[in-house]
Amino acid sequence: MPRYAHIIGWGKYVPPNILTNDDLAKTVDTTDKWIREMTGIGQRHIASSKETTALMALHAARDAIEVADVNPAEIDLVIVATATPEYVFPATACLVQDALGAERAGAYDLEAGCSGFVYALSTAAGMIRGGMYNTVLVVGSETLSRVVDWNDRATCVLFGDGAGAIVLRGSDEPGGVLASILGSDGSGGELLMVPGGGSKHPPGPETVLSKMHFIKMNGREVYRFATRVMASASRQVVEKAGWPLEKIDLFIPHQANVRIIDSAARALKLPPEKVFVNLERYGNTSAASIPIALCEAIDAGKVKAGDHLVMVGFGAGLTWASCAIQWSAAKPGVTPPQKAAASRLRYGWSGIKSIGWRLSRRIDAIVSKAIELTERKAPEE
Ligand code: ACO
Repeated sequence: MPRYAHIIGWGKYVPPNILTNDDLAKTVDTTDKWIREMTGIGQRHIASSKETTALMALHAARDAIEVADVNPAEIDLVIVATATPEYVFPATACLVQDALGAERAGAYDLEAGCSGFVYALSTAAGMIRGGMYNTVLVVGSETLSRVVDWNDRATCVLFGDGAGAIVLRGSDEPGGVLASILGSDGSGGELLMVPGGGSKHPPGPETVLSKMHFIKMNGREVYRFATRVMASASRQVVEKAGWPLEKIDLFIPHQANVRIIDSAARALKLPPEKVFVNLERYGNTSAASIPIALCEAIDAGKVKAGDHLVMVGFGAGLTWASCAIQWSAAKPGVTPPQKAAASRLRYGWSGIKSIGWRLSRRIDAIVSKAIELTERKAPEE
């Protein structure tokens, strides 16, 4: 029996703090005109010190779970696509799993730069279609503002923070994520990287003084690569799904630069009304950009049951990824207040349980240590 992977819930979170182009022009040698003309970006949202990758992921995930109307205990797997994880380890996905009370779920992070969300969505859909899992939470969450050099005008104008999430569920009903293309070309890795902080250049005074913990990018080369792969990856995935290009109802590209999006749309002969663009308000939020755009497209009434969607991303790695989706979810109704209250209670209870497990682990450690000491003392007596 063929199985299909349908998107049944979605949610997003962006920090309230906004940084406009004019704000940036006060600190680096740039102008609103240059940024708008060269990128299409007008402003970006920047996380406060309390808003971390895991916290934003959690907000977006809770909204997606609410729309999906699933109990977190039904989730089999949590994947967080991010290039700016909370820690080197543990995985941000484990923090989200715990905070949600998704007790049955496995959890891991996926790092594929700005292609991360489509990579995660595609692998989750593959696992569902293969029968391994039934309900998977996929999140893209980034705090790029923490790895941006705010004195480098060539990169600091481009990026923003935020998170988007979806819930995928298996069904025998045809539709959902029908085809995916994943690609990489590691020979271009040095074109876009954070060179310091990993095993090659462990963090230390040297890496900090030489600013190796910040994003380094060859913008021109990344631009050339992006215009090439956005159109080709979209063409390939549409062909794999067995659709003609004209069947695309909505194209949701990674939101990095409006000129890259326009070039892909021209190559695919897509009219502007079929192309979703929101980077004017968010900048490039990396792995979060496509799920945030999806949420906004749904809110704007641009996604209807039966529509044919194409998502395509490109990014560090170098990587690219595309997927073809036949949308099946109906617009959700308003959540009744009792249900919202029940969710809050459930998350509160998960928090208490998590604290309980941490405490019991500590007590367990103290008791084990005491037993060990007693046993060590015993032979002497
Ligand atoms: N304000 C004013 N001038 C600027 C700015 C700025 N913010 N940034 C660069 N310039 C100047 C440069 O110094 C240069 O000046 P010069 O001619 O006097 O030397 C001039 O503008 C042109 O600079 P380039 O970098 O060559 O400009 P380019 O045409 O390549 O455009 C841009 C730059 C917009 C960054 C473009 O290269 C781009 O969008 N590249 C793709 C980047 C991208 O999408 N990255 C994200 C990848 S996804 C991920 O995984 C994170």
